[in-house]
Amino acid sequence: MSRDAIPEPGVHAFSGEAVQPAASPLRAAFVSAFGETNAPRYTSYPTAVQFSPAVDGKAHRDWLASLPETRPVSLYLHIPFCRRLCWYCGCAMKVSRRPEPIAAYADVLSQEIDQTASAIGRRLGATAVHLGGGSPDSLSAEDLRRIFEALRRGFAFDDDVEIAAELDPAFVSSAWIDEAGRQGLRRASLGVQTLAPHVQHAVHRPLEFARLKEAFSRLRAAGAVSLNIDLMYGLPDQTLEDIEDTLDLILTLEPDRLAVFGYAHVPSLKPHQRIFDPKSLPGAEARLEQALAAAQRLEDAGYRRIGLDHFARPHDALARVHAAGGLRRNFQGYTTDDADSVIGMGMSAISRLPQGYTQNTADLTAWRDAVIENRAPTARGVAFAEDDLMRAEAIERLMCDGSLDLADLLARRPVTREAEEGFWRDLQAHADRGLVTLEAGRVRVTDSGAPLVRTICTAFDRYFDAQGGRHSRAI
Ligand SMILES: C[S@@+](CC[C@H](N)C(=O)[O-])C[C@H]1O[C@@H](n2cnc3c(N)ncnc32)[C@H](O)[C@@H]1O
Ligand code: SF4
Repeated sequence: MSRDAIPEPGVHAFSGEAVQPAASPLRAAFVSAFGETNAPRYTSYPTAVQFSPAVDGKAHRDWLASLPETRPVSLYLHIPFCRRLCWYCGCAMKVSRRPEPIAAYADVLSQEIDQTASAIGRRLGATAVHLGGGSPDSLSAEDLRRIFEALRRGFAFDDDVEIAAELDPAFVSSAWIDEAGRQGLRRASLGVQTLAPHVQHAVHRPLEFARLKEAFSRLRAAGAVSLNIDLMYGLPDQTLEDIEDTLDLILTLEPDRLAVFGYAHVPSLKPHQRIFDPKSLPGAEARLEQALAAAQRLEDAGYRRIGLDHFARPHDALARVHAAGGLRRNFQGYTTDDADSVIGMGMSAISRLPQGYTQNTADLTAWRDAVIENRAPTARGVAFAEDDLMRAEAIERLMCDGSLDLADLLARRPVTREAEEGFWRDLQAHADRGLVTLEAGRVRVTDSGAPLVRTICTAFDRYFDAQGGRHSRAI
């Protein structure tokens, strides 16, 4: 999904929102220490806020041409279409109920895949293909087939290539699931958010549990070995009880993974969110309680907590890779995908290349025109500078493991003395508030610090401005 691509998930970065004063000692300590602090979601570093038009289509194609021959890549395809608009939505999406614009999009996307492969200049290996959205199930089975033909033309799929898709269970068809199964779909993530009828009504997103259950069994029958469910807290009129009831039902499906996202309210970027009465939104304290209750319920049910907001059963690859210290974080969230480079294609898609990040335009017409004229549809990006890679690694380990061997990292990727002193000074301030421990060069996030890991990571973010950042709430 592309939301911080809404700018974390997205691309556009969630705008700032005041943290409301609250009663818990943790919250009170946090508010008094940091005031109105918003922190990035760190699906990349530098974050999407630092992207600029200085990195253009020429840079993107030059960077593609210099990709190392022997290193396989991971591929991300953005399919923006949905049959409906959910009023909380922060994703880069477009409503379309007609198949023609979607089929036309699939054609242009296939051309972009061909052009990307030709810019690379050889048929690189691919270890993973992620279809994000929007709702990739909006493609017809025929659209899907053509896109995979283009992918296989341009890239050599590993035998165990991990093919994954984000799906709207209210609409995904059996024809789509069968075609995806033929193409080798291994993993699917289904958006549920809530099963409480009054919250579904408030956010304009009905979904029957029976329909979800059917999608689940069809996906398993088609060969998907790992099924994820997205849930949300902090939605309008949502209560703790709603979260518990939703989890009771969801757990009967035995999903392999769950993601539990806090609703990011960014009406300045997503004007349709203005439909919500701000008074209907749970405050910071209620959001924290909802997040903690969901986490507790899932841990009691045997799920391992992974990073900020993911949970996985111990047998699932996400839990196994996490336990081995190899979890990664990218624009799709927490992932087992350890490819150095991710090539994003489609409207608004983001690529991570050895030299930096590039992002396609989020303007559908501009994207299409560029591809038709065989120009890279890049709108902006950022080149890695100075010690960015060291900072990126520190943030990624804290976000993934809640722990970082900073002394070792600094030995491998040295920075200036001033930068190093700044890291330790900021971390000491977090330690004084009980959010981390510092011992023998290692930083460990404490239980109280866990909900604030994004804020802790700002110690490594040279661009972060606690008062002026355009980001969603840190909890
Ligand atoms: C691309 S959608 C998932 C697939 C499909 N479009 C659907 O909604 O079922 C990605 C996920 O982003 C999350 N999401 C969307 N808008 C959000 C927001 N404003 N704040 C937090 N999470 C959000 C939802 O959990 C959603 O399932
Ligand atoms: S179906 Fe998914 S991407 Fe589409 S509007 Fe709803 S939440 Fe957003």
